[in-house]
Amino acid sequence: MWRNSATGWGRLARFFHWLMVLIIAVQFPLGLLMVEAYDAWLAGNGDTALVMLLSRAHNTLGFLVLIVVLLRLGWRTANPTPQLPAALKAWQRLTARTTHVALYGLLILLPLSGWSALSAYDGEFPIFFFGWDDVPRLVPQATPGSPFTSDLFGEIHESALWVLGTMLAMHVIAAVWHQFVLKDGILARMWRG
Ligand code: HEM
Ligand code: HEM
Repeated sequence: MWRNSATGWGRLARFFHWLMVLIIAVQFPLGLLMVEAYDAWLAGNGDTALVMLLSRAHNTLGFLVLIVVLLRLGWRTANPTPQLPAALKAWQRLTARTTHVALYGLLILLPLSGWSALSAYDGEFPIFFFGWDDVPRLVPQATPGSPFTSDLFGEIHESALWVLGTMLAMHVIAAVWHQFVLKDGILARMWRG
């Protein structure tokens, strides 16, 4: 079944969830490698082609995250959302809901802040999406004295990464807890449906 039911996730929702896990698992180390290559390049002993290749890959995957999360949220509103097990206490429901809302928010904030960091940059640097090297700016290029600099958006991007890491740690601990302690089939319904 492609659609969700009142008790289980459909194929498409599960596909979106695990596709996102895969993209983020690649995107995280890719971002770190890109910054390392860029710093070496700024210091004068880097490789321009490598910086461009890693940037292209990082920008492209980041834009894919934005597209997939919007499709996923759209699909979520067009479907029933499976109920949490009745045995869960109010604080557990609230924590689950808060973490999920935060995860969706971060998956939107990260691409937007990364895109803004490149847009505000006051030099020449391409914004890539696959073979397209000239993605329009999301915010204006920073002018002298403007507070909305590339560094500001870069700081937002980095802070959001810390919050994402924390939320994901909680999310995975909760999944493992449901699987092995509560044994309520929550992981199975996201995996097999
Ligand atoms: C969910 C999506 C994304 C994730 C998980 C992610 C992750 C990362 C990581 C781990 C770093 C390295 C941080 C550091 O060492 O300072 C980074 C840096 C960066 N990312 Fe992303 N990124 C995402 C989306 C994007 C997008 C869509 C763009 C641009 C179109 C982008 C542009 C940048 C830039 C310019 C940097 C270097 C400077 C900075 O820290 O802002 N990112 N990203
Ligand atoms: C990048 C990593 C991940 C992200 C961004 C993410 C995001 C999300 C979000 C936003 C939801 C809420 C779905 C909704 O209510 O619309 C969710 C549900 C879920 N996630 Fe993840 N997740 C990630 C990794 C994982 C991993 C590694 C596991 C397992 C170990 C996992 C297990 C689950 C389960 C079992 C649910 C279903 C909860 C339910 O049925 O109500 N997730 N995930």
